[in-house]
Amino acid sequence: MHELGVDAFGIDLSPGMIDVAQRDHPGLRFEVGSMTDLDLAEGSVAGLVAWYSLIHIPDDQVGSVFAHFRRVMRPGSPLLLSFHVGDETRLKTQGYGGHPMKVYVHRRQPAQVAAWLQEGGFTVEAQMTLTSAESSLGGIVFARRQS
Ligand SMILES: C[S@@+](CC[C@H](N)C(=O)[O-])C[C@H]1O[C@@H](n2cnc3c(N)ncnc32)[C@H](O)[C@@H]1O
Repeated sequence: MHELGVDAFGIDLSPGMIDVAQRDHPGLRFEVGSMTDLDLAEGSVAGLVAWYSLIHIPDDQVGSVFAHFRRVMRPGSPLLLSFHVGDETRLKTQGYGGHPMKVYVHRRQPAQVAAWLQEGGFTVEAQMTLTSAESSLGGIVFARRQS
């Protein structure tokens, strides 16, 4: 996005992920933060991407996260979400490098995510389900913040 001229910045809960982002993209802004408590001014972003991160938010907190998204986004601005498709919650005990971790991964149906977005003041414009090499399904939803 930066290469396309967008004034992009990134937020992640994990300081390690922020270190990786800063190492790979020096000069761009990355900060430790949580989508459950976005420290951004109202209407201050012109678009938001949450890529496979909503998977760690329990169902009962998704509405609050979408309320944060809606608060910081300008009216009419786009929101792109991706997530694992399914119905179950799994406890992940190993990271990709094999290191121990304890994090829940919530799989969801695109229709459920779309319904939460509609309830939260977004208009869903597109939904896709992808089959990945890992044979797990990936959901993508594109929505816009309503006025
Ligand atoms: C599967 S990784 C995806 C990372 C990256 N977005 C990507 O597409 O490569 C999930 C990420 O969500 C982050 N995460 C989990 N809970 C979060 C929260 N409440 N706020 C912000 N990031 C969170 C984790 O730290 C982790 O980096």
